[in-house]
Amino acid sequence: MKVPLLDLKPQNLALEHELKAAFERVLHSGQFILGPEVETFEQSVAEVTGTRHALGVSSGTDAILLALMALGIGPGDEVLCPSFTFFATAGCVARAGATPVFVDSCPSCFNLDVADARRRLTARTKAIIPVHLFGQTADMDAVLELAREHNLCVIEDAAQALGAAYHGRPAGSMGDFGTYSFFPSKNLGGFGEGGLLATNDDALAEKARMLRNHGMQPKYFHGMVGGNFRLDALQAALLAVKLPHLKQYSARRRENAAYYSGRLAEAGVALPAVHPHNEHIWNQYTVRVPGGRRDALREYLAARQISTEIYYPVPLHLQECFRSRAPEPLPVCEKLASECVSLPIHPDLLREQQDAVIEAIAGFRRS
Ligand SMILES: Cc1ncc(COP(=O)(O)O)c(C=O)c1O
Repeated sequence: MKVPLLDLKPQNLALEHELKAAFERVLHSGQFILGPEVETFEQSVAEVTGTRHALGVSSGTDAILLALMALGIGPGDEVLCPSFTFFATAGCVARAGATPVFVDSCPSCFNLDVADARRRLTARTKAIIPVHLFGQTADMDAVLELAREHNLCVIEDAAQALGAAYHGRPAGSMGDFGTYSFFPSKNLGGFGEGGLLATNDDALAEKARMLRNHGMQPKYFHGMVGGNFRLDALQAALLAVKLPHLKQYSARRRENAAYYSGRLAEAGVALPAVHPHNEHIWNQYTVRVPGGRRDALREYLAARQISTEIYYPVPLHLQECFRSRAPEPLPVCEKLASECVSLPIHPDLLREQQDAVIEAIAGFRRS
């Protein structure tokens, strides 16, 4: 049975009429960048982020860059971030002119190891970026304690975690900034590029709002150097149609995760751990395949038309562009990169498809 990693058609086509109506509304409005559609979406999504401010931006990557710029992080500064994450987290630190300092990860929940972050502090450390990887928040009590002790800014990279929670607190609402992505594969997936920057700090929100639009206030007067990080009105209007369904999309992913975890317990793969105080939204369901057999399992599944993906095959400290920094080994990240594989988990996955994945993994174990 064919099992794609992601199938966006059922989710989007179920809302076809509303999406077309939103498109027509924007078409007739003649306003295509920022404006009332973006403001309305920002107000609704701020209820999910649990923050006083939510700014629609051009991508999850730009949200991180904008946060760093608003916090004044640049040359000479060091920023702690995980190595086992998507490139954008550290790429933005380097683009801001600062130095990413890579931190090892937790082997069972895949998030930043805060004890390791503590060991890597220097007098130049200015910020920490916990990434809420695969839809589960990092250990934010420990992150916030470290930040308080050493006066660090905290940017939560919640690109994969809109709607997740930590001790009941929304992912992205606990640090100075939370950043989110609407890349189509995310739990709230858009129709192109889009992202969000959230904060509870009025002054930071004001600064980020200006930086989003070339540091311009009023028109054609530039008090600071910003960029074009604006969200399109069309993107906001379409995302606003999907936003009321986000809880249901994540609930379906949670059901699928529970089904996998129940049936893969004896399948010879290490299952993802969920910390009890975390509300996981399962942007990915990622297992570890020990004994150097991960790639063989992927091939076995691919031969049965089951798609999987490796998030992420090369930890960032070993990426070519960061190698000049003579990386220290990060043993957990390196192991995760060689053992992890993500299985289909999207909300429209059929039970028969999940059974096919589970049976194929069992078949691989017997092979
Ligand atoms: C952890 C993480 N951070 C940042 C990003 C960047 O988001 P975008 O693709 O919207 O720029 C992503 C997207 O995949 C991500 O997964």
